[in-house]
Amino acid sequence: MREFIPEDAEEFFALCTNPQVMKYIGGEDVPANVEAMREKIVAYPDYKRHGFGRWACIHKATGRMIGFTGLKRLDDFGGEVDLGYRFLPEFWGQGLATESGLPCIRYGFDDLGLDRIIGLALPENIASIRVLQKCGMTFERFVVDPHAGRVVLYSISPTMLNDS
Ligand SMILES: CC(C)(COP(=O)(O)OP(=O)(O)OC[C@H]1O[C@@H](n2cnc3c(N)ncnc32)[C@H](O)[C@@H]1OP(=O)(O)O)[C@@H](O)C(=O)NCCC(=O)NCCS
Repeated sequence: MREFIPEDAEEFFALCTNPQVMKYIGGEDVPANVEAMREKIVAYPDYKRHGFGRWACIHKATGRMIGFTGLKRLDDFGGEVDLGYRFLPEFWGQGLATESGLPCIRYGFDDLGLDRIIGLALPENIASIRVLQKCGMTFERFVVDPHAGRVVLYSISPTMLNDS
């Protein structure tokens, strides 16, 4: 896992325009082409603004960017930090979202000093909710995401991670 770089544009564009991948992603503004995606990556403010952001996931055997994982500070949720992930369908079901999500949570608590991390998913996105659960999060409540609509909010605190 590493920070996004402009050279990820083509693979990231393919990921974000895959209908299977985007089925349960609500209201995301996907750039119109690879060049626009490259500009979006260059302008991505999170690493400088918050010191962290989503990370590209690189398949070690091939060097391919196969998805992303990581933490994001959400302006829409009072600055809460959420764990998000997205992978190419051919890599689903191998435990990669969980395997990459757990160290992100540990990083958030141990290195960034966060006292809480949340996860949001459409109620019908069973795979995503299962990943949140496998990462040790528990259901807290339903909330309305201004982009996606009614979503489940899961959360975890440092003590919950150590207990799980
Ligand atoms: C959600 C996503 C990241 C999961 O990635 P993954 O690497 O396959 O996740 P994992 O293998 O770590 O875990 C998936 C779990 O969901 C379960 N699952 C998947 N589809 C399921 C379904 N339709 N019903 C019930 N369980 C399901 C898997 O069995 C697994 O649980 P298990 O280990 O208890 O068997 C992947 O499906 C994806 O990229 N989806 C599109 C993007 C997306 O929706 N992102 C989340 C937005 S909130």
